Amino acid sequence: MMEKLRFGLIGCGVIGPIHAQALASLPDVELSAVTDPVAEKVEKLAARYGARAYTDIDEMLTRERPHVVTVCTPSGLHGEHAMRAMRAGAHVIVEKPMEIRLSVIEEMLRAQAEQQVKLAVMSQHRFDPAVQRVRQLVEEGAFGRLVLGNAVIPWWRSQSYYDSGDWRGTWALDGGGVLMNQSIHYIDLLQWMLGPVASICAYTNTRAHRMETEDVATATLHFASGALGTISAPTGAYPGLAARLELLGDRGSAVIEGDELRYLHLARDEKEAAGDYGAGMHVGKIEVEAPEQSTASDPAALGWRSHALQIADMVRAIREDGTPLVDGQAGRRPVEIILGIYESARTGKEVVL
Ligand SMILES: NC(=O)c1ccc[n+]([C@@H]2O[C@H](COP(=O)([O-])OP(=O)(O)OC[C@H]3O[C@@H](n4cnc5c(N)ncnc54)[C@H](O)[C@@H]3O)[C@@H](O)[C@H]2O)c1
Repeated sequence: MMEKLRFGLIGCGVIGPIHAQALASLPDVELSAVTDPVAEKVEKLAARYGARAYTDIDEMLTRERPHVVTVCTPSGLHGEHAMRAMRAGAHVIVEKPMEIRLSVIEEMLRAQAEQQVKLAVMSQHRFDPAVQRVRQLVEEGAFGRLVLGNAVIPWWRSQSYYDSGDWRGTWALDGGGVLMNQSIHYIDLLQWMLGPVASICAYTNTRAHRMETEDVATATLHFASGALGTISAPTGAYPGLAARLELLGDRGSAVIEGDELRYLHLARDEKEAAGDYGAGMHVGKIEVEAPEQSTASDPAALGWRSHALQIADMVRAIREDGTPLVDGQAGRRPVEIILGIYESARTGKEVVL
């Protein structure tokens, strides 16, 4: 029987326990050790999953020699923690964003190449069945010429959410606000569907919270393909609506809302052509309310299944010496777009990537 892959987990806050739960659902892995400077948090998680508890990362890495480390610490510490783990010889899964600075991302990619380990960046919505299906159709060219992609992420975060950690909503450790923390998932999906972004025009503001960074942003994207895109992203949209991704092409369109495929219409499936004025009346039924348990309003209401699928993808890459779906190069792309949005909002100019 194949040896189980031993995992070490760094950071036992909101997302760390989701990783632990996802790992517990997978057959050929075990969570050996967890680490967090806050003893109470680390002991609780360790006891729950039968792992050993450490308050010091290096001690955990030296004593446990984990095959894989998952990094679940504040975003501005991802590079430091991922590089420590890679230099100790571990493969790494790092939470999104990969890092908040492109210079550190470059260092991470260098460390990965030097150490010859695998690096994956969490973007678990890529593994949602609706997203996988739409991406497959994109690969088949089923939408024809894609003309526009829209990502609307009308979420709600309370002031107490921002006050719950001194890193939240700061430039130094969150790397931004609604864009770098919450909307990055859908920005990643948008660019995964539509390809590289050529240029950006954007606005950001802070309207509903006491925080250093933005809680509302709009951006217009010009993709290298010629398609256009928009991003609308607040965390001041009470009570938090379902995120929506629209993909619009001259042979078909799709709408994913709240992680479900709400609308799909492809010319290739039609019995009769839509005609000169289209088939606007044939819209699918669109639920406008967010599901009750949704990260649209509650950051702790996270499911672990998509995380488990992405971790399984990394396990496959390690076992087969392949590449994880969201490797370091892929993890870099949404961060580059978000930093471009910040630059455009700050300078009032179009930013060419
Ligand atoms: N993929 C997702 O859907 C998702 C959801 C939530 C958060 N995240 C990401 O996960 C990361 C953590 O977010 P969170 O909400 O869990 O934050 P959190 O503040 O709840 O947890 C972070 C934990 O890291 C610990 N920590 C800080 N410094 C450390 C160090 N030097 N060594 C070990 N542990 C340390 C803290 O004590 C805390 O327990 C962020 O980057 C965030 O963007 C991803």
